[in-house]
Amino acid sequence: MKKSRTKLPPATSRLITEVYGRLDYGALGPVYCYEGGDEFWRAKRGLCERLGSRVALLLKKKLRRGGRSLYVGAGVAELPALILETVELGRAAEPYNLRRTEVSALNPACHSIPLTFHAMDAAKAKGRFDHLWIVSVLNDPERFPHLSPLSYGRGNPLTLDPQKFEKERRIVRALVAGCMEKLTRPGLVTTTTEEVIWIAEWCHRHRVPYLVGKRYYPTALVGDPICFIRVGTE
Ligand SMILES: C[S@@+](CC[C@H](N)C(=O)[O-])C[C@H]1O[C@@H](n2cnc3c(N)ncnc32)[C@H](O)[C@@H]1O
Repeated sequence: MKKSRTKLPPATSRLITEVYGRLDYGALGPVYCYEGGDEFWRAKRGLCERLGSRVALLLKKKLRRGGRSLYVGAGVAELPALILETVELGRAAEPYNLRRTEVSALNPACHSIPLTFHAMDAAKAKGRFDHLWIVSVLNDPERFPHLSPLSYGRGNPLTLDPQKFEKERRIVRALVAGCMEKLTRPGLVTTTTEEVIWIAEWCHRHRVPYLVGKRYYPTALVGDPICFIRVGTE
């Protein structure tokens, strides 16, 4: 029988739906919004599943079986990719997220899969990885309020505080360096169009060739488009 190239196998899709069904949206509400969490998740849950599964399918074609992936700032939106990597590709996917409440809501929902979210700095992950996922982390307005507007092309020269901006840029560069030095070559980076510059800068500084994919894919929660970067190949 011919295998479909445009859909995840039914067992994987079912598992993804099951995990989304087990999430404690009451606990996740305040993580993602100041108010109206229930409404937010009613609107976004299906979108997370659909758009996340589309990206997961792309990863299936790009990643080899049995490798390791480092996920920085992974949450609800990353579940399809993490589940696909773990159950279909037999890969070890390690998601890191500094929001403890979100990690506490994600881990019980994933109990049937060998997948554990870690509430710690991803730069402290051990070992080497052939895939780095870093999506809507380096431009996060909550964590980087002085740097984020510039990432989105909305900097204001009247209100910019150069010292605070410089401090955040140092943190971002250190996080990128801490993750990129763990990437084996050739390797794959999944990131957003706003964050490509940081990966590109690291590659230039280390004279590592890279190729940014020309296609962009929508995301469900933050809305920054995802793209892929091949690192270490001409
Ligand atoms: C804006 S959220 C993005 C969540 C998700 N990637 C998405 O697109 O929906 C940014 C996340 O990055 C996480 N984060 C920031 N710095 C991190 C670090 N050094 N290690 C692990 N997670 C980090 C934050 O805790 C937060 O959960």
